[in-house]
Amino acid sequence: MDDQNTTIAGWVLFAGIIALGGSIVSSEVFYNERPKTMGYPIEGVEVEGEAAEAEQPIAVYLAAADPAKGEQVFKKCAACHNADPGGPNALGPNLYGVMGKPHAAHAGFAYSDALKGVPGSWTWDAMSIWLANPKKFAPGTKMTFAGLGNPEDRANVMVFLNSRSASPLPLPAAPAAAPAADTAAAETGEKEGAAKVTGPAGAKTN
Ligand code: HEC
Repeated sequence: MDDQNTTIAGWVLFAGIIALGGSIVSSEVFYNERPKTMGYPIEGVEVEGEAAEAEQPIAVYLAAADPAKGEQVFKKCAACHNADPGGPNALGPNLYGVMGKPHAAHAGFAYSDALKGVPGSWTWDAMSIWLANPKKFAPGTKMTFAGLGNPEDRANVMVFLNSRSASPLPLPAAPAAAPAADTAAAETGEKEGAAKVTGPAGAKTN
């Protein structure tokens, strides 16, 4: 009886050792494979998300944008920006009348060389690209804000900023929703759209 028990205990112990060894080996194998299996799905999700957003030019979202919603979005900016006429510069420059102004042009604010080095003015497209990812638009910018990934948020906050201006920009013509237009096609479409609309040309002749 005792002998039998000892033998059984021995086998149980032996089985335990095998199981333990096996689990160490399998965890090492699993550990080696893990980064691969974890990496791919996450990449896939990100690419899908970006592709879905990239399909529509910002003009499409602007056509449906709402300044009241933009004022809510602007709460994310208000820690650093004031948008009242004659309002103060804070961590960031006062933004009253910024739409349509040249980049980095508000008097009395010490802009980074990074933003000063980007030529041009705050068109709808430029502002959308900037707000989506400030560091990508002007690498080295002082604006430590991650960006607004949602194009609806960008469109809303832009029409809000445009309402805070003595000379608001006309909205871009919304292009007919083209399936999966790439950036070049979207730009051409917008230029064509702008040319057809008498707004900017008419404004100049007046
Ligand atoms: C953490 C502070 C901070 C936050 C939050 C922030 N900004 Fe800024 N912003 C700055 C700074 C600093 C600059 C100047 C950038 C430079 O000189 O590189 C700037 C510059 C800008 C400019 C360029 C102004 C010009 O005169 O050319 C715009 C437009 C702007 N911000 C819009 C926004 C909007 C819209 C939001 C919210 C969605 C926002 N910012 C959030 C700090 C901030």
